[in-house]
Amino acid sequence: MALALSASEVKAVLAAAPARAPVSRVLMARPDFFAVETAINPWMKDAAGNLHRVNRDLAQAQWAALKAAYETAGLGVEVIEAGEGLADFCFCANQSFPFHDSHGRPGVILSRMKSETRAPEVAYYERWYSRRGWRLHTLSPAVSSFEGMGDAIWHPARRVIFGGIGPRTSEAAWPEVSRIADVPVIPLRLEDPAFYHLDTCLACLNAESALWIEAAFDAPSRQRLKAAFPSLIDISAADAANFACNAHCPDGRHVLLQRGSAATVSELKRRGFEVMEVETGEFLKSGGSVFCLKLELP
Ligand code: ARG
Repeated sequence: MALALSASEVKAVLAAAPARAPVSRVLMARPDFFAVETAINPWMKDAAGNLHRVNRDLAQAQWAALKAAYETAGLGVEVIEAGEGLADFCFCANQSFPFHDSHGRPGVILSRMKSETRAPEVAYYERWYSRRGWRLHTLSPAVSSFEGMGDAIWHPARRVIFGGIGPRTSEAAWPEVSRIADVPVIPLRLEDPAFYHLDTCLACLNAESALWIEAAFDAPSRQRLKAAFPSLIDISAADAANFACNAHCPDGRHVLLQRGSAATVSELKRRGFEVMEVETGEFLKSGGSVFCLKLELP
């Protein structure tokens, strides 16, 4: 089954899918040219309607501390050099979707960015993969946009992906992604422009639980998520605005997230997770936090 649409299809797909190993490696991109230049999401302007100003030195320090936090959690971190002059390049969840095919061979689907300002980023990632011998795939012209792991999120324990449909990724992407990567997809429709990538409103924790912003999804998508996870933690509006759903749990144990989401943090601790709060304040000004700043490598 390529796409799981009903609650019973979601359950069937998860029951049949092979297990997936925890994430042990991430890719990060240096924020050397990071800036807030074009407002392509609602977080990039302040209340007065002006673009946020970023402190690039502070952004570099926050980025280095996030990298160190991944290393402390026991993950390997690979680094791709920044694309010359590209303001959003450091959000490296978005330019590609890497996977291992059913024979364990590395392949990658290159993104088709929604905005012109981000389109040139993809060629740098393409080069990074091709130098390492990954098999490259692109989607057909019928797919108007696809933003990689911003919208394609692995189920934490099964070889199944959740596929966001919304401001950045078109519905037509999912049958193609499913075919190329040979993996079933649970499509999820995003309804709120503030939560423009799936990784802004869903953070998978383990086979049983995930953080979500329920109001960000349409009704059938809520049903699919309820079928997938026995325990969904709906976070508060304050924590949602602090990008708590852009948390990353690579291994079912450590949860890395932006500092300051007290209610979410205490709920995670109560459930036994090892919470690692990090500061990504400069990147929040661009509408991104932990999950966006790294790419899971298979
Ligand atoms: N300014 C970037 C954009 O709007 C932020 C991307 C954040 N990435 C993410 N996966 N949510 O594209």
